[in-house]
This record gives sequence, structure tokens and C-alpha cells, in this order.
Amino acid sequence: MEYGKLMEVAREAKKMAYVPYSNFRVGAALLTKNEKVFTGCNVEIASLGATNCAERTAIFKAVSEGETEYKAIAITGDSDSTFPCGICRQVIVEFGDDIDIIVDGKDGLVITNISELLPHSFTGKDLKELK
Ligand code: THU
Repeated sequence: MEYGKLMEVAREAKKMAYVPYSNFRVGAALLTKNEKVFTGCNVEIASLGATNCAERTAIFKAVSEGETEYKAIAITGDSDSTFPCGICRQVIVEFGDDIDIIVDGKDGLVITNISELLPHSFTGKDLKELK
């Protein structure tokens, strides 16, 4: 799927955001390598640490349905160019260092890559390299 279309799906998913505390809406659309799309929105909980970001909602939905290979994730939030938070970057890199990240900028889509957003990441590979 073309990234513009993927972003349109993310914008639709944003409408489902459950945000009674921040009122800051985020939507995500995750594209798998076999061209399936999983959507996510942020879900806020009164005990705020239990809140789940839109990106993680989409990824956890995909993993729970057996899909763990991703091409890209499109993200749109209430700010101009809402980039994934640090926790979501760590979750994204868990599934590959080549995943494209597309955010909704005021002048169009901004396309980057998880390796650029989280360089020198700690991954499962480190855990297999005990000295
Ligand atoms: N949020 C996301 O859903 N994704 C991000 O990458 C940034 C932050 C959500 C979490 C919370 O519901 C709201 O935005 C404000 O932090």
C-alpha cells in the first residue's frame, strides 16, 4: 500500500482515540510485509502510566494475530509531525531496524526510518552476545 493511503487509514484510526485526560488524539496504521494493515489509537487510563500509545496498540494487535514482520507505520497526532515516543521507538525496533516511519507534517508526509529515530538501539541481539 502506498504511504499516502496508509496515512489516511491512520487518520481514521485517530477518531477512535480514547483520551479523557489529555484530549491529545493519536492514530496509527501499521503495514505488514505481506500488505496487511493494523490500526491503533491511544487509550488513556486514569492511572496514567497504564496508558497505551497508538503505535503500540497497532503493533500489539498485529502480534496477537500472528503478524510480526512490518514494512512501515504511519502516525498522526494532534501536533504537527507527531513522532513516536521513546517507548514506542523501542517497541518498533524490536521488530526490525528497517521499518519506515511516516508522520503527518503540515507540509505533507515526513518519511524516516526507525534506525534514524533510535540509533544504536538495544535489541534482542545484545542479549545473545553475552561476554
Ligand atoms: N501518544 C501516542 O499515542 N503516541 C506517541 O508516540 C506520543 C504520545 C499519546 C499518549 C497519550 O495518550 C497522549 O498521546 C499524550 O501523551
